[in-house]
Amino acid sequence: MKGATVAKQGGPLEVSTDLEIPQPDDKQILIKSIYAAINPVEKFMVEWGLLVDSWPVVPGCEGSGIVLKVGKDAINPVTGALFKEGDEVCGCTRLGMKGYSPWQEQFLMDAAIAIPKPSNITLPQAATIGSGALTAFMGVFDGLRVPLLDPSHLPSPKNEWALVFGGASSVGKFAVQTLKAAGYKVATTASAKSTSLLQSLGADLVLDYNKPELEIIADLKTATSGKLNLAFDAVSVNNPLATSIFSALAPTTTGQRLYTTTNDWDPVPDASNGFTTKDIKLGPIGRPEAKELNERLSEFIPVIVGLIEGGKVRVGEFEVKGEGVEGLGGAWEWQKEGKGGSRKVLVRIGEV
Ligand SMILES: NC(=O)c1ccc[n+]([C@@H]2O[C@H](COP(=O)([O-])OP(=O)(O)OC[C@H]3O[C@@H](n4cnc5c(N)ncnc54)[C@H](OP(=O)(O)O)[C@@H]3O)[C@@H](O)[C@H]2O)c1
Repeated sequence: MKGATVAKQGGPLEVSTDLEIPQPDDKQILIKSIYAAINPVEKFMVEWGLLVDSWPVVPGCEGSGIVLKVGKDAINPVTGALFKEGDEVCGCTRLGMKGYSPWQEQFLMDAAIAIPKPSNITLPQAATIGSGALTAFMGVFDGLRVPLLDPSHLPSPKNEWALVFGGASSVGKFAVQTLKAAGYKVATTASAKSTSLLQSLGADLVLDYNKPELEIIADLKTATSGKLNLAFDAVSVNNPLATSIFSALAPTTTGQRLYTTTNDWDPVPDASNGFTTKDIKLGPIGRPEAKELNERLSEFIPVIVGLIEGGKVRVGEFEVKGEGVEGLGGAWEWQKEGKGGSRKVLVRIGEV
């Protein structure tokens, strides 16, 4: 079968035609890749070898497709019954391990962390949700310690603020909407071109991240009356800004200040800054040694599906920039150059 491979660290993306079709174990499903998504992590995998078990590697970890084979104990985390051949699924797969990437024609998913496609979205839309939603949930429900939502009994709105840095990113869009569903007033940073998108997703305050830091802090202080205890960096670059904001607001807030970030490589601000930080690590997803992570992600999946099907969370825009495994190279360049903007870049790998 075909797949997009990189032979060695820093090497180019090539099309291989002789990849072995992987076989699912008892708790796995084999999927025909229909839409493959491109994420920031593939660049780090290829340039730094991040999470790569061995070379050549097929980068890519997110997509949607159709179940071709089902292991004998491969349970759907939403229905609690076995997956079936022909089911439509999506999500984020193991990174850097042979057999798991949607950038090849058929790939494996661990059933417990596979997301059954929400019934009200299409397969290309489904290819955009895995990494963003799971990462946002780790931030909101573990980093910021918000109690896990029951999509059929959402809490009433409260007069408490949460801040999301980078609301227009894939992670940010899910974080903003999930915090809204949890009843928070949400402030977010975005560029001017993404302001109306964020407002349409429910953000109560959108701050232009290109403005000077002091202006951002002053606007935030005025809008929240200085009462802000929760902050989530969904674009990995805001540790210093989070520290400045919390220290400016410290005299006006009571309660525990919590900060979570997708930046899991730089040292995080510590408690001496007056707040507690937890970084997010989705990278080991699916790996057998990440038992606790996988169990938690499995708990998140019915909530993700419930919020999307209930219309409480809207999936982001996307653009299909290529066809077949051959289309991945050009689409990846497009994404790396930032030409997709806040839209997820997809490639249609196979036919339904
Ligand atoms: N630790 C983990 O487990 C984990 C998991 C997933 C992702 N990540 C990391 O999380 C980050 C986000 O990933 P993603 O896939 O959601 O990214 P993405 O969708 O590619 O994010 C792109 C968007 O980020 C916004 N942005 C860029 N710089 C910004 C800034 N300084 N302030 C606010 N917004 C900014 C831009 O929005 P505008 O349109 O507003 O300019 C842009 O459209 C990446 O660094 C990724 O590597 C980490």
